[in-house]
This record gives sequence, structure tokens and C-alpha cells, in this order.
Amino acid sequence: MRDFFTEELEALRKRALDRHLREISSAQGPEVVIAGRHFINFSSNDYLGLANDLRLHEAAASAIDEFGVGAGASRLISGTQSPHLRLERALAKWKGTEAALCFSSGYAAALGTIPALVTKNDVILLDKLCHASLIDGARLSGAVLRVCPHNQLRKLESLLEWARRKHQGNRVLIITESVFSMDGDRAPLRELVELKKRFRALLMLDEAHAIGVIAPKGRGLAAAENVSEQVDVQMGTLSKALGTSGGYICGSHTLIEWLINRARSFIYSTAPPPAIAAAGLAAVDFLASPEGEKRRLLLWERIRLMQQLLPRAGSEAEDAAAPSAIFPLIVGDEKAALDTAAALQSEGFLVPAIRYPTVAKGTARLRITVTATHEAAPIEALCETIERRRR
Ligand SMILES: Cc1ncc(COP(=O)(O)O)c(C=O)c1O
Repeated sequence: MRDFFTEELEALRKRALDRHLREISSAQGPEVVIAGRHFINFSSNDYLGLANDLRLHEAAASAIDEFGVGAGASRLISGTQSPHLRLERALAKWKGTEAALCFSSGYAAALGTIPALVTKNDVILLDKLCHASLIDGARLSGAVLRVCPHNQLRKLESLLEWARRKHQGNRVLIITESVFSMDGDRAPLRELVELKKRFRALLMLDEAHAIGVIAPKGRGLAAAENVSEQVDVQMGTLSKALGTSGGYICGSHTLIEWLINRARSFIYSTAPPPAIAAAGLAAVDFLASPEGEKRRLLLWERIRLMQQLLPRAGSEAEDAAAPSAIFPLIVGDEKAALDTAAALQSEGFLVPAIRYPTVAKGTARLRITVTATHEAAPIEALCETIERRRR
């Protein structure tokens, strides 16, 4: 019998939508090694270069000495160890919220939290460019889901009016991201807060690509816009600028207590390894320190350099300040995006091609990410190479 998956995979290949794993035989950093060759790495979300930082190594190693490798059980059974609680206290303090709860990943945080907040007959208004974890959490909740055109406040306002009219007495949850993962732009957070207050909605904000990058001490967009207290549910992940892994939710004591009782991805999953929580705590401590702030400012120097040098597609405002460390170069066609990524790789640059379904069909792109650990020279070299290939 012909393998069922063979045909499906063939169909994916024909549309240039097949995906493959690539073995990296080194730590994450500004350079990585693939099949014995060094590549300059513009593919990682390790914005501050913490994924291979000695402070995090040491924190993880001493937690292994003290607590071992595995957590043994879910948090509610016997898996809550001191490093988990220390990390949660530090996250809440850093984010300026009453409490925090950690999950094994950002994906798990979204999947567990959204269904705990809303259910059948409630309404979710989700930005069109939200990450898959938020989409999946929203679907899983069973709430009425409306997708709002990206960052369009007028449309959101009319959806809120509709929700309040048609679903009286039910909860309305707005979900969006601080920095959109594949486009690098920001949500209009102050205006969103105004709308959520006017319509008595809840606001959930995924700060995955904003923490460590935006606001003093890298506290994220809610802090930068001074609206932290008005954002009901602040989600994030330790897997990007914080260099480790694990998702979190920050918010009120009652929210966190509710999630401990209702978030299924928290309740029914073994706790993250205590060493990972300890490394996360070291990352939060670093961000809150003067040295961490220096590293974040260095990241912004690199972002500005990339913004200055990167050839643009045309219509974008060249002078506008870059909103984040993510630079999408839209190619359009899926195959063309793959070919461009392969050509860059042959010249020593690792830049991922992002295709459907991660982004909409026909909007395939190269997603370049800058980190504080990139020297100026590789950034210049990448931009020159892209420019040369354009001519
Ligand atoms: C915006 C956004 N939210 C959530 C996640 C999920 O986080 P994690 O990788 O920790 O599961 C990601 C990254 O993958 C992301 O880009």
C-alpha cells in the first residue's frame, strides 16, 4: 500500500511548502555550525545573546546540583520546586504585576490560558497576524471567534459594538501581540487599552518579541506605554530574548490563582525542569541589571544599523524608526523565498524563508532577526549581499 503521507508530502513539495529540519551542531549565537560550516546566524530570537550566556549556564548547573534534572510531576502534584516559585516572583516584580505563572512553553501558556478565560458564547477578537499559539488557544476555547484585520482600530471598535449587542452578558476578550512575530511591527497598545475600557472587554497581550527588547529593563510594550495595569493578561515566553525556554502569564493574584485551577496545559503537564527555571531567573535578573540594560541598548544600536543598511522593497517609510529586532523582506512567491534563502546560505548567511501557513499565501518572506551579539561587520555584509542580489 502506498504510504498515505507520501502523496501529501509530494503535494506540499509541489507548492514549495515542504519543511525540513536542519541540524545545528553548535550552541546558538551570532554564528552557528551546520555540517561543519560556519554561518552567520540571522534566524534566531535570542535577541540579547543569552541562550549561551555563562550566567545562565551557572544558574542551571547549580540548580541541577541541588534539584536534579527532572521535575518529577506536574506542578500541582509535586513538581513545584523552589526555582519555579523564585522565577515567578521575579517575573511578577519585573513586569510590575501582582503575580505570575510559568508554563513549559509560550505555546502551552496560550493554549492553557485562553480557554480558561473564555468559553462558549463568550467572544474573542483576535488580530489577524496573531501567532499560531493564540489562534489555537482561541479555537480550543470554543468561544465565538472573530478575526480582526491587522491593527485596524475602527474595525475592532465595530466588532466590539457587535459583540456587546449580540452577546450581552458574555465576556469579550481582545487578543493581540506587542510585536508581531513575522512582521516586526507593534500593536497600537494605548488605543487598544482605550477601546477595551470603553467596551468593558478583557485584553490579553503576547509580549513574546517585546520583552528584553522594548522599554527600560526590557519590560515590554505594556511598560513602555505605561499601561501595564490595564492589560489584564500579559503573556510572554522565556524562549526568545531571555535565552531559555518556558512561557509565562503575568497578571492579578486572582487571574493566576484561576489559571492554577483551570489552565489544562499547566495542570496536566509535568513542570519544566527546575534548572530551566533557574536559568530563566538568571535571565530576568540580568535584564533588570545595569549590564542587562547596556546589552539591550547595544541591541538597539544593531537594530538601527540594520534599518539603515537593509535594502527596502520600496514603499515603506525609510526614515521611520525600526519598531523591533525583526526585519521581514517580503518576496511573495514561496519558491522564490526558498531560493533566496538558499542563495544567502551559500554565501554564509542563515536567514529563514517564512511561508504559508506561518504567513498568508503569496506573502512569503525572509525573516531577518538582529541580536546584540552581532558585530556591525556581519550586518553590513548581509545587507551588501542582499543589495548585490537585487541588482
Ligand atoms: C508571538 C509568539 N507567541 C508565542 C510563541 C510561543 O512561544 P514558545 O516558543 O515559548 O512556545 C512564539 C514563538 O514561537 C511567538 O512568536
